[in-house]
Formats: sequence, C-alpha cells, structure tokens
Amino acid sequence: MRLLVTGGAGFIGANFVHQTVREHPEHDVTVLDALTYAGNEASLAEVRDRIRFVRGSVSDGELVDQLVGEADAVVHFAAESHNDNSLANPRPFLDTNVIGTYTLLEAVRRHGVRLHHISTDEVYGDLELDDPAKFTPETPYNPSSPYSSTKAASDLLVRAWVRSFGVHATISNCSNNYGPFQHVEKFIPRQITNVLTGRRPKLYGAGENVRDWIHVEDHNAAVHLILEKGRAGETYLIGADGEVNNRDVLSLVLELLGQPADAYDHVTDRAGHDLRYAIDAGKLRDELGWRPRYTNFREGLAATVDWYRANEAWWRPLKDQVEAAYSARGQ
Ligand code: NAD
Ligand code: DAU
Repeated sequence: MRLLVTGGAGFIGANFVHQTVREHPEHDVTVLDALTYAGNEASLAEVRDRIRFVRGSVSDGELVDQLVGEADAVVHFAAESHNDNSLANPRPFLDTNVIGTYTLLEAVRRHGVRLHHISTDEVYGDLELDDPAKFTPETPYNPSSPYSSTKAASDLLVRAWVRSFGVHATISNCSNNYGPFQHVEKFIPRQITNVLTGRRPKLYGAGENVRDWIHVEDHNAAVHLILEKGRAGETYLIGADGEVNNRDVLSLVLELLGQPADAYDHVTDRAGHDLRYAIDAGKLRDELGWRPRYTNFREGLAATVDWYRANEAWWRPLKDQVEAAYSARGQ
C-alpha cells in the first residue's frame, strides 16, 4: 500500500513511520509534515532513506491533492496537539485541525482514497474520579479546551464526509501516549528533562488529574490493525487500562531518576483542566483482536527515561525555549 502519513515528523507519527518501516515493509511511505515547532526531521533520521519526506501543510489544497492522488491510504496524524498552547493561542488549532482535516477530506473524496483519522479521547470531555464509567464510542462529545474542540470538529467532519459523500474513512480516539520522540512540552518528557537539566518538575494544581497512559507502540499497532481490518465509517477507541494520576506518574519519574519524593513544585493549574480520562477499548479488542504489549507502566516509563538520557542531542535544543514560555505563564 502507498501510505501518506501526515504529521510523520511529530511524536506519534514518527513512531508510526518507524514501526511501519520495521514491521510492514510492504508499505511505501510518504510523510507530509509542515515541521512546525513540534515537528523534527531528526525523529526520522534512522528511516530517512526508506521513506519520502515532503515539507508542507495539510491545509495546502494543491499539495494535498497531488499527494493524496499518489496514495492508496492516508493516515492523518498532523495536528496542533498541546492543550496549553491552545489556551494561549487557539488560531493555529483551527487552521490545522479543522481546515487541514477538511482539506484532506476533500482530496480523499475526489480521489477515492482511504483515510484513517487519528483523534483523541479528549473529544468526550472528562469523568469524575469515582465514576465507574469509561469512554465508549457512544459517549456524547463534550470537549473542554480549544485543542479538544478542534479535534472534535475534525472528527465530526470525517463522520459527515462518510455519511454525505461515502468517503472511506475510519477514526480512532486514543488516550495519553508516552514513549520516545515526545516533545518536551508534554508532561512526562518535561519532568524527565527538568530533572536532567537541574530544574524541578512542575505539577499542575494538586496533581489528582488522571490520564489513561498507553505506550505509543501499542497505539500505532492498533492503527495498523484498523488500517488492515477496520470497518469503513467506524470509530475505534484505543486505550490500555493505564489510569494513573499525575502525582503518581511524577513520583515514579522522580524515583527512576534517583530524586527525593518531594523534589518538585506545585504550579498554577491549567484553565479548564480535564479531571480524568478513561477508555473502554472493548470494541478494538473484540472486533479486531488487539492487545497492548506494554502492560507494565513502570517498565515502559523506565525505558522512556533511558531514551531521554541517551538522546539529549534530540531534545536539548528545544528545552530552554519551552521552559521560558511555561515560566512566563507561571507554570
Ligand atoms: P505532535 O505535536 O508531536 O506532532 C504533530 C506533528 O504535526 C508535527 O510533526 C507537526 O510539524 C505536524 N503539523 C502540525 N501542523 C501541521 C500542518 N498544518 N500540516 C502538516 N503537518 C503539521 O503531536 P502528537 O502528540 O504526535 O499527536 C499526533 C496526533 O495524535 C494528533 O492528531 C493528536 O491529536 C493525536 N493524539 C495524540 C495523543 C497524545 O497523547 N500525544 C493522544 C491521542 C491522540
Ligand atoms: O488524552 C489524549 C491527549 O493527551 C492528546 O489528545 C493530547 O494531544 C496530548 O497532549 C495529551 O493531552 P494532555 O493535556 O492530557 O497531556 P499533557 O502532557 O499536556 O498533560 C498531561 C497531564 O499532566 C495533564 O493533566 C496536565 C498535567 N501537567 C502537564 C504539564 C505539561 C502537569 O501537571 N505539569 C506539566 O508540566
């Protein structure tokens, strides 16, 4: 299959390209990525001679039309992905997440090409800490932030293009990913690299917020399975029963890095901060037979800590600027 991977220089997209080259060499991969602050060509260095890389935006209609016309399927990772940035400046989230997805939908519609749209569990809003419920494909959309509302909008566009125009598309909504190549603005890499640069980790509010952690390799294996066996027009939720609150994640990071348990700061909480996410991945397991491989969070996190220790050259150039922006916001 000729795969067009949008956002392939970002965290999950780059891991997807690595996994594809390693485990699905039958696919021919083209990456379309705008190389925003979040994209990094270095994340693709090891596979660079096995793929085609095109720098450009998913909102560029002419370029997208040409690349979609040369593909059999599109896997759409490209997005503005960080909630805190969406609170500071929402506009790029509308341009990329909404207009970019619309641009791709029109191109796949014209060319009759399959689309898999990567989305997030955040479209469902949040859950109470003691709520026994988890998100399912039937949970009503109720996004909280500019980021999650633009992702919800992009999902709804995909659903409308499926129903109105018969576009062959699938959607997956995944929970919080961790693993190598994640930008240092995100929670886990930020805390690891804070310690490695002599800064104190920063916890928003009381740290009671719960995220449902999944290793990026498990997310991407599920995406491959949906590409192979997923039913057109369907939504699949991806999650690995990995609920942990932020305080406990941070305690593990501190322990793995040999730091005292109290060596962190509480900082200003995120506005509108979602309390808890939890995924019911029953449909993915029952229909497609998916199972996560990284079921031990401590081991997965230890390997991630080791990756950041070993790859300082990858993240060091980004770190000071990210911390300056956070500290200007009291975070
Ligand atoms: P990321 O911010 O690390 O990477 C985004 C990539 O998209 C970057 O390479 C960036 O250069 C590229 N990009 C941004 N705007 C673009 C544009 N207009 N045209 C082309 N490329 C553009 O994001 P990520 O964490 O890898 O997330 C990837 C996708 O997965 C997103 O759609 C996100 O909503 C979704 N998702 C992320 C998580 C998570 O935990 N990180 C969980 C569920 C879903
Ligand atoms: O649930 C899936 C979503 O997970 C994806 O759609 C998003 O693209 C991805 O960024 C992630 O969103 P979160 O907002 O949950 O991730 P983030 O890494 O920004 O924060 C995780 C939790 O940690 C959240 O409760 C906020 C908190 N946090 C974050 C940072 C950066 C802190 O306590 N301190 C921090 O310094």
